[in-house]
Amino acid sequence: MLKNYLATKDTVKGSLLNSLAAVRKRSLKRTDICDHLETIFLECLGIYPRLIVELGCGDGEPTFVLERVAKLWQAPLVSVDSDDRREVGTYSGRFFIQSDDIELAPRFAGWCAQRNIPSVIDLLFIDTSHIYEHTVQEIRDWFPFLAPRCKVIFHDTNLREVFVRKDVSTGKGWDNERGVIRAIEEHFHQTFAEESDFTSEIDGWLIRHISHCNGLMVMDRYEG
Ligand SMILES: C[S@@+](CC[C@H](N)C(=O)[O-])C[C@H]1O[C@@H](n2cnc3c(N)ncnc32)[C@H](O)[C@@H]1O
Repeated sequence: MLKNYLATKDTVKGSLLNSLAAVRKRSLKRTDICDHLETIFLECLGIYPRLIVELGCGDGEPTFVLERVAKLWQAPLVSVDSDDRREVGTYSGRFFIQSDDIELAPRFAGWCAQRNIPSVIDLLFIDTSHIYEHTVQEIRDWFPFLAPRCKVIFHDTNLREVFVRKDVSTGKGWDNERGVIRAIEEHFHQTFAEESDFTSEIDGWLIRHISHCNGLMVMDRYEG
């Protein structure tokens, strides 16, 4: 028994370091999110997710990271995108759903029940249209599925026409009129200075923000 436990621990430890190395290697490709891949990976190790949901897969940069977290814990990863992005992942526990995420929300519980997956999300990653009205709807329709203790990560909380990475290289973005951050502000009834890094505690949530590379908001709810 103890031998099995130690063997499992060693396997997780080995794959954890291998995964971290793979994530670091992936971060070398300059994208709109490259600076955050390692942060997302390390952040997500802190919880033992039973269900991970990703809204918006794009070219699969965060998918690459979330798959590695999911694999470590043998957790299902549900990836949702309005375009066909099934090919961006390789993890056998990844379920790709091609759908508008707002249209999917009311049938998500049924989808989970059919697959014997509890419709309680421990880790929610959101990176879709970056439009204010849509982000408001995502918070309204997807937050009810969150576990009492959970983690939510938004990308593009500081989207601009030109974004700057940690290494001061730049990339082309667009002005979404603070769409993502404005929707989060509205949810928490609080304004945020998205051009800076900050930590805040609001209504049982620990909120941390990283401003560069289009902005990343990491939110941990510790009181459900
Ligand atoms: C900015 S990309 C994500 C890019 C990703 N961060 C990456 O680096 O590969 C946004 C993705 O969200 C998807 N998307 C946009 N609106 C959506 C919606 N309403 N429902 C589901 N997916 C949506 C798009 O098809 C696109 O693949």
